[in-house]
Amino acid sequence: MSEAKQKWTDAALVLEALHRFHGFDFRGYNRDFVLERLQMYTDEVECERAIDLIPRLGRDADFARRICESLTVRHTRMFRDPSSYRAIRDQVFPWLSTFPVFRIWHAGCASGEEVLSLAILLKEAGLYERATVFATDISQTTLKRAELAVHAAKDEHELIAAYSEAGGKLSLSEYFTRRGEHLVFSRDLLRRVTFAEHNLAQDEVFSEVHLVICRNVFIYFTEQLQRRAERIFAESLCKGGYLWLGEAEAVTSEHAGVRFRTTDLHPMRVFRRVQTPPLESPPRHAPSPSVTRQPSVSTTKP
Ligand SMILES: C[S@@+](CC[C@H](N)C(=O)[O-])C[C@H]1O[C@@H](n2cnc3c(N)ncnc32)[C@H](O)[C@@H]1O
Repeated sequence: MSEAKQKWTDAALVLEALHRFHGFDFRGYNRDFVLERLQMYTDEVECERAIDLIPRLGRDADFARRICESLTVRHTRMFRDPSSYRAIRDQVFPWLSTFPVFRIWHAGCASGEEVLSLAILLKEAGLYERATVFATDISQTTLKRAELAVHAAKDEHELIAAYSEAGGKLSLSEYFTRRGEHLVFSRDLLRRVTFAEHNLAQDEVFSEVHLVICRNVFIYFTEQLQRRAERIFAESLCKGGYLWLGEAEAVTSEHAGVRFRTTDLHPMRVFRRVQTPPLESPPRHAPSPSVTRQPSVSTTKP
């Protein structure tokens, strides 16, 4: 067997073991990405081959969890791709403002910078009090960081520039207090946010969401897993609801024009759920605001 084939066989066995022993399903992740991340992890724990991880991951749930953490990239920043925030503010907020209350779901929110960014723009548009926000991720560790709303002060100048490019109206410093090397953001920005663990590979839908934000997550998925996530988003969105993806992402051809249509905001990767999506299976709506597979939910306190 060639070395490349051997490596993938090993990696596939590790993914199977994670799923079988602990229920963590990474089998729908992009192959090159999995190979690269598992290689990094085997080097870190000084194993010769990925397959050597299996005996320990079978008996040690913490070890298995660490492998899962190594299989996710959690890089994010506030007002990432600022022009797309501006487009959302200018073209999606007016539609949101037609509802007395609305729901937003950040799927794959990482450490919450995206959640804070949108909360700031919603506040400045006078819409924050109408919003109910769900912020979910597969990683418990990263969600815990998100709840703290504390970010590195070294990025301050970059953040201020991105905020103003995104259409921020005030001074970003209105929203945080500087403490040593950290910027501590106002708890008020998370008052309407519920953080929850949610796995796009295994969990189910939220209901009557107006805007789903899932940026820079599909790039790690195979097309099959992406289609699953798109189905969940389509079933979660209310009529005409928006799906906002990352700059390098788009809806799969199977769902483009069927579940989602492009918008004038297309270059920004913003799609709209078509009015009546043809569903292969009946929608499985979870009673709001929970999801069907029990997530661990924690709501931030004001
Ligand atoms: C690169 S970050 C993107 C963060 C943010 N959306 C942004 O664009 O800045 C990808 C996030 O997706 C999360 N993720 C990966 N697989 C996931 C899955 N199956 N379900 C939910 N979240 C997932 C990771 O834990 C990580 O926090």
